[in-house]
Amino acid sequence: MIGVPRVIGKLRRPGRVLLIVSLFAGVCKAVPREAKRRPAPGVILRLTLGFPPGLTVPLPDVAVAPMLFAMTTMKAVRIHQYGGPEVLTYEDAPKPEPAAGEALILVHATSVNPIDWKVRAGYLQAHIPFKLPLILGWDVSGVVEALGTGVSGVAVGDEVYSRPDVSRDGAYAEYISVPAPLLARKPRSLDHLRAAAVPLAGLTAFQMLFDPSALALANGQTVLIHGAAGGVGTFAVQLAHGRGARVIATGSAKNESFLRELGADEFVDYNTQRFEDRVRDVDAVLDTVGGDTLDRSWGVIKRGGVLGSIAGQPSAEIAVKHGVRGYFAMTQTRTADLDELGRLIDAGQLRPIVGEVLPLSEARRAHEISQTGHARGKLVLRVVG
Ligand SMILES: NC(=O)c1ccc[n+]([C@@H]2O[C@H](COP(=O)([O-])OP(=O)(O)OC[C@H]3O[C@@H](n4cnc5c(N)ncnc54)[C@H](OP(=O)(O)O)[C@@H]3O)[C@@H](O)[C@H]2O)c1
Repeated sequence: MIGVPRVIGKLRRPGRVLLIVSLFAGVCKAVPREAKRRPAPGVILRLTLGFPPGLTVPLPDVAVAPMLFAMTTMKAVRIHQYGGPEVLTYEDAPKPEPAAGEALILVHATSVNPIDWKVRAGYLQAHIPFKLPLILGWDVSGVVEALGTGVSGVAVGDEVYSRPDVSRDGAYAEYISVPAPLLARKPRSLDHLRAAAVPLAGLTAFQMLFDPSALALANGQTVLIHGAAGGVGTFAVQLAHGRGARVIATGSAKNESFLRELGADEFVDYNTQRFEDRVRDVDAVLDTVGGDTLDRSWGVIKRGGVLGSIAGQPSAEIAVKHGVRGYFAMTQTRTADLDELGRLIDAGQLRPIVGEVLPLSEARRAHEISQTGHARGKLVLRVVG
């Protein structure tokens, strides 16, 4: 008779369910795909043979990686309450199931955007119905692992990237389930780390600059871009330059040569110069800073021009006074725009600027950096590998 199996070692965080599964289902030999890249969850069992009576014969130890455990939990960074970076908790969380119309993505990388720490701090509670505990992170690059019913146009194994729905769990996790219409093919020329830097910031810059209702920037026009060295700004400088616009960038002195390399024709160091003393009669301003920077921008725009901000709501009254259009919008996940960003990237006309890569487990550190408001380009979190 086989004695009760004893757990003598952990492959990774075993739970009671593991033992039950292994007793009824026997030793699970199949190793889940992701287990090739990281230690599989499971236990090491010691079995003994209790026959003939009075004799106990040890059997070889067995490593068990129960599929059930692998399928139901994952590593994630969640918040259980609003607060400072310390509320970010790296822990086991339920692995999502793809609902109808959704694809389950094995997340290779995600990136940090200012919205992440604004949500974490509770600043957006009144606007978006979050449910706690919440997984943050609304950029993803990864591989489709499973499909819900009724999905077309996406297949298991596809390399995809996306800006998932901000009102749902994000991508600071090993898995995320995303409605298939929000997915686009990852740019072929980028690895997942760099691809994860693109969706939210790239879409924001692209839509603010080129949407007809936004800046509708055209060849030959002049645009002033505030916060040019940031996540959105680094995309905006390249995109505007690529469209044939004259680009004036604001930033601190350390970023001048970097921004000129990206396509800025002129540079204003906001620490030592007032941009309104250097700039006048531009066709458009793209403001990613808000506050005083937004308020001081009206006077540098020619009549008939446009002030677009992603960091503050331009006053309609002041806009009328200056004969300028004010515009604010939230970024939309449009696959056509993601495809166009991918096309520009693969054609060598656009590149994500990745300032720093940290492992998912260091999300707190990433938030501290993002919250300084002085990160260059994007902060990426490596999830797999
Ligand atoms: N409405 C939307 O849908 C939407 C979408 C995306 C982002 N946003 C918001 O837009 C803002 C920018 O996002 P982001 O991802 O680009 O942020 P970010 O990466 O954190 O921006 C940091 C950059 O801002 C620059 N900066 C700081 N103060 C500045 C100033 N006074 N003048 C010029 N540059 C300054 C810094 O340059 P230096 O280091 O040189 O100082 C730094 O490179 C955030 O508030 C974000 O929440 C809104």
